Order: sequence, then structure tokens, then C-alpha cells
Amino acid sequence: MQKAALELGYYHTFSGMSNVGQIELAERLLEKAPDGMSKVFFGSGGSDGNDSLIKIVWYINNIRNRPQKKKIISRWQAYHGTSVATASLTGLPSFHTAFDLPMNNILHTESPDFFRYGLEGETELAFSSRRAQQLEQMILAEGADTVAAFIAEPVLGAGGVVTPPEGYFAAIQKVLKRYDILFIVDEVVCGYGRLGTWFGSEMYDLKPDMMTTAKALTSGYFPYSASFVSEEIWELIKEGSVKYGNFAHGYTYAGHPIGAAVAMANLDIIEKEHLVDNAATVGAYFHEQLNKRFADDGFVAQVRGKGMIAAVQLVKDKTNNTFFDKEIKISAKVAHKCYENGLISRPLPSLDSMAFSPPLICTTDDIDNIVNVFDASVRSVMTEVL
Ligand SMILES: Cc1ncc(COP(=O)(O)O)c(C=O)c1O
Repeated sequence: MQKAALELGYYHTFSGMSNVGQIELAERLLEKAPDGMSKVFFGSGGSDGNDSLIKIVWYINNIRNRPQKKKIISRWQAYHGTSVATASLTGLPSFHTAFDLPMNNILHTESPDFFRYGLEGETELAFSSRRAQQLEQMILAEGADTVAAFIAEPVLGAGGVVTPPEGYFAAIQKVLKRYDILFIVDEVVCGYGRLGTWFGSEMYDLKPDMMTTAKALTSGYFPYSASFVSEEIWELIKEGSVKYGNFAHGYTYAGHPIGAAVAMANLDIIEKEHLVDNAATVGAYFHEQLNKRFADDGFVAQVRGKGMIAAVQLVKDKTNNTFFDKEIKISAKVAHKCYENGLISRPLPSLDSMAFSPPLICTTDDIDNIVNVFDASVRSVMTEVL
């Protein structure tokens, strides 16, 4: 950061300006990114990263003389940010209520949460196929010529740490292809190693047309995001400059040279310390320990997630998945107890779940420590409430 600040403390990236740091970072990211990604736009966080992509979706459909093809489909339980457009994409009602959202042209299809919405006797595969059919019905009801893009996180993060059920993305991507609908993959949580692969797209065989990343790009040492587009989209953006003049989008701090240096240093550490592999192996150990620890307890119905992200589903009784009364605020209670005992966890109150995103550097000893403190904390709350 210091070296970058001494070289170039700041310069804007409007009007064709750039800086060496962001150019080198873009080249490095494109080597790692899923196939087909061709150009990168830097911003300051996940919300503005997704926002930029939404604008590009609308922009290129104007260039292609398809002014009616503008709707974007997101999913209930998704989290894509809190700006006007991205809070609209977010599929959690509290982000809409009293904010006059979602805005026009943003729709939500059903969530991929098999635990909550799988039918009695339904297999994951059948559930995935039902979700794909529901998406297709929505597209047909709206008119395929009005639907421009679909956005999804590989693993739903804030909405419950929900991994895709078997066959889900294969079925969904088929529908998108059928109706010429762009696939925006939101890798803000999953990108740069969290799941044990560089990107969630790699883990679940996703073929994004556009992709947003942030968070672990700089591991929080600098607010930074990177939004990616395919070569086809880039070619259209270039056509747009001929048709409409300069590409009138950007932010004062976009492509900040200090942020680019931080991202480079962060990627050096991820690579040198093999943190993606660590997330895979230690992450697998984390899930194994959580599963083992609560296998015989009636108050844990499910352990979800992948690699270094997990959620524990609390229930009153797992034999029939009875949920706690809302007034008990079970996840807040458990989170509070964990905090008292020295463990930071994240309660997901609408889902009665506890979420964990341990640092990618965690060792198996760290994981034992996390699981031990969580175990003791959750048991002490359960003796109070059950
Ligand atoms: C999947 C996902 N997308 C987008 C965002 C928004 O990012 P930011 O808070 O940096 O605007 C988040 C934030 O948690 C996220 O989890």
C-alpha cells in the first residue's frame, strides 16, 4: 500500500484513463477467472460491482436494438447488495419493505433451498428440475423477449449458506441458453477461495457471461470489487461507444491504484500460502466435525455449506423439523452466547441458522476451537429453551 501510494496516490479512471496497477491486476485476474471472461471493471464493493453489470445488461440490449429485453431475474433468499438496484435483486423481504423496492424490471424466482422447499419424497434432482421449470414458466409468462439476465450466487451466502441441490445449475443454465438470457454469477462471497476452489463457478460448472467479485479480492484491506464481462459483451460495449459516445459509467474511486496493489499482495499471499487448497482440506474437516458433533442431537437439522463457509440449521425437533417460536430468537441467543465465549458467528434470524466463515488461513486446531466453543454455547442455550 505504501509503495503504491508513493508511486501514484490516486488518479481517476474516467475518459479512457487507467493506471498500471489496475491493468496488471486485471490481467492476473483474467488468467484465473472462469472461461470466457474477457474484461474487468473495478469498483469499491459488491453492490456497485453488481450495479455496474446491471447497467451493462441494459446498455448492450439497447445497442442490440432490443429495448424491451431488460428484466433481470433473481431468486428469493439471494443477497446481491443494498443499492437501489441490488437491494431489488436481493431476495430477502426486509431489504424491500418500506424502501419501495424491488424496482421495476426485477423479478424473483423460487429459491434453491431444498431443505425448506423440497417436497415430501422429492429427490434433489427432481427439486432442481422443478425449479428450472418454474424459472421457464416465469420467463414464458413475462415473455422471453423481455427477460435479459438471471443472477445467482454459486452458494447463497447471507440467505442461508445454501449450496445448489444436485443438478440445479445444469438445469437452470439450459433454460437460460434456450431463451438467450445472460447469466450473471455473483461471486462476491465465493470468489478467491472460500469454497476450496478459486471461484464457485469452477466448483459448480457455471458458465458466466458476467461475474462480480469483491470481499476476498483484497481480504477487506481495501474496499475493492472486480466485475467481469465476456468478450461478446465487450464487443457490444465497443459498438456502444460508436452509437452513443463515451461509455458514461464509473466511480471516482474505481480502479484505485492502492486498491490494485492491495489485491496483488493479497493474491500473492493466497497463492504462496496455498489458501485455496487449505480452504478445501480444512473446510472439509470443518464440515466433518460439525456433522459429527451434532449427529445425535435433535436441535440440529442440517449442516450446510462448502469449504470455509458453513451454516447450522437449528430446530426444536429434527424428527419432524419443527422450528422454534420466532419470539425465542434462537439464532440471536446462540450468537450472543458464542460471543460471550469468544467466538464470532453470524445469526441468520429468518432461517434460525448460525453461519460461519472462518478465515482461509485456519488450521484444523483453529477449527477444533471454533467447533468446541460453538458446541458448548449452543448446548447451554438449548438447555435453557428446550
Ligand atoms: C453475494 C453478495 N453479493 C453482493 C454483496 C454486496 O457487497 P457490498 O456489501 O460490498 O456492497 C454481498 C455482501 O455481503 C454479497 O454477499
